[in-house]
Amino acid sequence: MNRRPFVAGNWKMHNDLVAARALMAGLRAELGGALNVDVAVCTPFTLLYPMGREIDGTSIKLGAQNCHFESKGAFTGEVSPPMLVAAGCDYVIVGHSERRHVFGESGDMLRKKVVAAQAVGLHVIYCIGEQLDDREAGNTERVVESQLQEALSADLNTDLLTLAYEPVWAIGTGKTASPDQAQSVHAFVRAKLGGVFGQETAQRLRIQYGGSVKPGNAKALFECPDVDGGLVGGACLVADDFVAIISAAQDSV
Ligand code: 13P
Repeated sequence: MNRRPFVAGNWKMHNDLVAARALMAGLRAELGGALNVDVAVCTPFTLLYPMGREIDGTSIKLGAQNCHFESKGAFTGEVSPPMLVAAGCDYVIVGHSERRHVFGESGDMLRKKVVAAQAVGLHVIYCIGEQLDDREAGNTERVVESQLQEALSADLNTDLLTLAYEPVWAIGTGKTASPDQAQSVHAFVRAKLGGVFGQETAQRLRIQYGGSVKPGNAKALFECPDVDGGLVGGACLVADDFVAIISAAQDSV
């Protein structure tokens, strides 16, 4: 099955308006032609609307890094899925390890976010991944499986779903999972997706790898049969690096 790769940049809490516009100008200059991969930039909330203007007329799509599960109400500091749609988003990241581990988001909460985001037509990038002690204790598959079970069920819209496997020990550390490590977990995740959605759908769903993806390691990762692009943190903040990673995904097709 040929899956179209999907590369998303997770800006996290980086870039002011000036830096963001410069980064987008770099991406526009280098990603002019038709792409055979999907590309998204997931910016901080305050940059969504202006970055939506910056990507106008390009094939780059806009995403957010989080959302609340209610559509409106007394939830100080939160942003709802309909608000993201109104700001121009097509995508939202749900369950990033920093949301799980720094902000204590539970599986129950993440499940509600996935459902609420899809209900307004947002495509969810649902993140899973083990911590270093999980891996060292041989618990990687158990952790990843429970994160899948918490949020996913057969009634979800799989046209609006991408998975992102991000081993926590590889995020922002410069320690990338080896292609073999990534492929092994991706194949496991795909098998579990088959159990939820059926084999045909599991073959169609894309599973991104995230965790210190760089221009120098992207090619080997994206060539793994079950790795369908990447969720990129640090390297997406430098236009040339993000473009090189997108090119690696294009070459993997
Ligand atoms: P880094 O690429 O900086 O390791 O971040 C990965 C990540 O968390 C993307 O969501």
